Amino acid sequence: MSIPSFGVGTFRLSGQTVIDSVTNALELGYRAVDTAQIYDNESEVGLAISQSNVNREDLFLTTKIWVDNYSKGKLVPSLKESLNKLKTDYVDLTLIHWPAPDGNVSLREYMEGLMEAKEQSLTKQIGISNFNIELTKQAIDIVGDNIIATNQIELSPYLQGRKITEFLKSQNIHVTSYMTLAYGKVLQDSALIDIANKHNATTAQVALAWAIKLGYSVIPSSTKRENLASNLLAQKLELDSDDMAKIYNLERNGRKVNPDGLAPVWDE
Ligand SMILES: NC(=O)c1ccc[n+]([C@@H]2O[C@H](COP(=O)([O-])OP(=O)(O)OC[C@H]3O[C@@H](n4cnc5c(N)ncnc54)[C@H](OP(=O)(O)O)[C@@H]3O)[C@@H](O)[C@H]2O)c1
Repeated sequence: MSIPSFGVGTFRLSGQTVIDSVTNALELGYRAVDTAQIYDNESEVGLAISQSNVNREDLFLTTKIWVDNYSKGKLVPSLKESLNKLKTDYVDLTLIHWPAPDGNVSLREYMEGLMEAKEQSLTKQIGISNFNIELTKQAIDIVGDNIIATNQIELSPYLQGRKITEFLKSQNIHVTSYMTLAYGKVLQDSALIDIANKHNATTAQVALAWAIKLGYSVIPSSTKRENLASNLLAQKLELDSDDMAKIYNLERNGRKVNPDGLAPVWDE
């Protein structure tokens, strides 16, 4: 199992904006795209991909099943609808977007639905998102070891998720960091700005390089071609142990995504 370390996110982007963002990203060399049923942009993402000159087999495409589609009768059909919108016959990774609200569909039912999608070759890999340690343990108990490819969770220099990342590492579950830039909030941080100046880099590159150095995948989004281009170069930025120690101290439980009725009890 492998997940690309760098991709482009598409949350909040719709219409021509998301078409342009994905088109720019693919032109610049991004080869992984992250979308979700609830983003309501799979058709536009699919259009941008189909109009690009990137071969499907060179692209890593992720979507996420929305909570309304967790029941046995809905999960696989909803993924087929996503594939239709994305103009492809498989995705590389399908995630459960959030744990089921109030357990209205059992974890077993939707994890088995994901397994069924994989068996039908609708998705190459399966994973979870926004799962805490306890729910991740339950999911592993259902599908077995080394089946869950990743847990996609909010992580940034302000929210370092040490307990959950350590646990995921122990289970051989890859960590994907979403909102690594804390939706732009960390970009004003004076310590990150100092590190950026030291390396003649941007603050966004420092935050992304921090996550990559910890072994996480990142999927920053941008509506601007110049930001997409410079973010990608974070892969070439090598932070030293002094930089990493300074960023370690920026932890402040700075969670930005905590929706009522969906968020689990986080491992803080
Ligand atoms: N699994 C989940 O529940 C979940 C939740 C949230 C997000 N995600 C995924 O993670 C992706 C990333 O999260 P996100 O898009 O919310 O936030 P993000 O990547 O942390 O930040 C995106 C914001 O940062 C700005 N930005 C990006 N690069 C920049 C740069 N080099 N300099 C200055 N500003 C920059 C963008 O503005 P400009 O457009 O102006 O560049 C945008 O406002 C999402 O798109 C989505 O695919 C998943």
